[in-house]
Amino acid sequence: MGTTTLNLAMNVGDGTEILTLDMDENDAAAADQHPADSELTRTHLSAQKALDFHETRYASKIKTLTGDSTKFDFSPWKGSVDLVFIDGGHDFATVKSDTENAFRLMRPDRLSCVMWHDYRNPL
Ligand SMILES: C[S@@+](CC[C@H](N)C(=O)[O-])C[C@H]1O[C@@H](n2cnc3c(N)ncnc32)[C@H](O)[C@@H]1O
Repeated sequence: MGTTTLNLAMNVGDGTEILTLDMDENDAAAADQHPADSELTRTHLSAQKALDFHETRYASKIKTLTGDSTKFDFSPWKGSVDLVFIDGGHDFATVKSDTENAFRLMRPDRLSCVMWHDYRNPL
C-alpha cells in the first residue's frame, strides 16, 4: 500500500533515494504464494495506482520497481544500500532469498542495516 515507503520517505534527508519493489499482475500470476500472501498481493494490486506516497511531496525520493523478489536482478544496487526493509512474501523460501539479497545489497564501507517485518510470523 506504500505506507512503509511513505513513512521512510518522510523521515530521511532530501538526498536519499528509496527503492520499493512489489509484484505486478504477471509476476503474481506466475508466483507460487502462500494463500495469506496472495491475498496481500491482491490488495496491493487493487491499490497499485493509488499507493500512499503517490502525489505527495515525498514521491520524488521514491523509485518504484516491479518484480518477484525471488527472481529480481538486484545486481545494479549491489553494495550500495544503507537500509533494507523486508516485508514481502512470508514463507521461508522467500524470506531466505530476500535476506540473502539484502546482505548482497549492504554497503561494505560503512554500517548498514537490515530490518525484517513480521519477525516470528508463523507462516
Ligand atoms: C505485508 S505487504 C507489505 C506492506 C508494506 N510494508 C506497506 O506498509 O504498505 C507484503 C507485500 O509484499 C508483496 N510480495 C509478496 N511476495 C513478493 C515477492 N516475492 N516479490 C515482491 N513482492 C512480494 C505483496 O504483493 C505485498 O504487497
